[in-house]
Amino acid sequence: SEIINQSGKQKVAQQIAGMVKDGDVLGIGSGSTVYMALLAIAERIKTEKLNVLGIPTSVEISMFCSKLGIPMTTLYEHTPNWLFDGADEVDPKNSLIKGRGGAMFKEKLLIASSPRNYIIVDDSKIVEKINTNFPIPIEVFPQALLHVEAELKKLGANSIVLRPAKGKDGPVITENNNLILDCYFNEVPDTMERDIKSITGVIESGLFIGYSLEILVAKNE
Ligand code: A5P
Repeated sequence: SEIINQSGKQKVAQQIAGMVKDGDVLGIGSGSTVYMALLAIAERIKTEKLNVLGIPTSVEISMFCSKLGIPMTTLYEHTPNWLFDGADEVDPKNSLIKGRGGAMFKEKLLIASSPRNYIIVDDSKIVEKINTNFPIPIEVFPQALLHVEAELKKLGANSIVLRPAKGKDGPVITENNNLILDCYFNEVPDTMERDIKSITGVIESGLFIGYSLEILVAKNE
């Protein structure tokens, strides 16, 4: 089924690569669909000698860009012309959950900075209601953990899990040196993103409500 899963991702990845133009500054999200798009973009850069700059959202994607020979820049120097990124869940109103990879702060910063945003998903990501199969990840300043947990419970969190690290004891430490709480809520009203963000100690959440996004979906065959 992994092979079947990849076919939808592969299609949207190709579609994105076809949209790249000479001179573009691209915001580059994270995840396997993004990685597939980067492979195809790197191929076009090589064969068509395109001048393209990428602004990556994670160390992982920076390393892929280096390996593929895709030149990079930062938000200090450039604003993206457009951006592409994956998602974990997409609902009928184009609300998203992101952050399985833990990079949602930088992903949201880039989406907020970019005038055009393409979300590339296969149809396995489309849900009636977000926060059904995926928790909402919340990046938290470490010493604010207990305060944030208490406030999240007031917002209706019924499950709050400190994300554990892989390959190391203890919790995940994000690229910004913070912790991640993976949360399920009783309800996710449209005010939820703002309510979470307004808790002192919350850096960002992986909830995206009301953003201007173009969702590219491809079916798995
Ligand atoms: C990374 O933090 C996430 O927001 C990804 O965009 C998401 O997990 C999509 O990943 P895949 O493309 O691997 O499904």
